[in-house]
Amino acid sequence: MHPMLNIAVRAARKAGNLIAKNYETPDAVEASQKGSNDFVTNVDREAERLIIEVIRKSYPKHTIITEESGELAGEDQDIQWVIDPLDGTTNFIKRLPHFAVSIAVRIKGRTEVAVVYDPMRNELFSAVRGQGAQLNGYRLRGSIARDLDGTILATGFPFKLKQHAPAYMNILTKLFTQCADFRRTGSAALDLAYVAAGRVDGYFEIGLKPWDFAAGELLVREAGGLVTDFTGNHGYLHSGNIVAGNPRVVKAMLSNMREELSEALKR
Ligand code: IPD
Ligand code: CA
Ligand code: CA
Ligand code: CA
Repeated sequence: MHPMLNIAVRAARKAGNLIAKNYETPDAVEASQKGSNDFVTNVDREAERLIIEVIRKSYPKHTIITEESGELAGEDQDIQWVIDPLDGTTNFIKRLPHFAVSIAVRIKGRTEVAVVYDPMRNELFSAVRGQGAQLNGYRLRGSIARDLDGTILATGFPFKLKQHAPAYMNILTKLFTQCADFRRTGSAALDLAYVAAGRVDGYFEIGLKPWDFAAGELLVREAGGLVTDFTGNHGYLHSGNIVAGNPRVVKAMLSNMREELSEALKR
């Protein structure tokens, strides 16, 4: 196994076990508000601490970027661990058992290793660049859909960016008339993992952060899929506006979205 994948898996399992244990004891969970409609708990922070501890033990010089601590610059800036300790915090707080730990390793800007771990189902999605994507050791392949006909698409509502609500709803309406149905699961990392697994045929969301998609992006690619921004380019690395699916589904989604994009979403 790739040595960094080994460490990423160990860290993800450790954090996942902590999250699952706390899911059983809701009285121990303390939620607070970070911004409008944006929550964090003591469990997010504790899971993050555990992950950083595992990584630091093996790689004390690497840079670590996390949702709750920001950038912990290391001596080595070329290797960055991009971490979401708990993706799906709102689900976790509402006791809706769908959330994950997401860990990616980027070397000189290119993602090499990815892990998304769902502790409630004990599902570990992993990928190493050039070596395919796996779920609990089994090779993943994405959807074989040729267009949007009959597809199930996933999305996330822009609940922290409600200024985008009108454009988002226009895109949703357009795609909804073409596909079979939509899912909104509440975890972007799992949405991307599910695209990699072919459990959904495509996915789009506005304004994700790097830790939401860093691991999921590699899972999708290694399962034969494509990740782009809303115009088919790489702007999502900064905007976080993401479309994912197999190349044909992404093409069909983009062509339906084109006329509905506000200026702000064309990157
Ligand atoms: C959120 C989840 C959610 C997505 C949001 C993310 P968090 O991450 O992935 O599905 O719609 O955009 O911020 O805050 O639970 O880690
Ligand atoms: Ca959050
Ligand atoms: Ca997240
Ligand atoms: Ca999070």
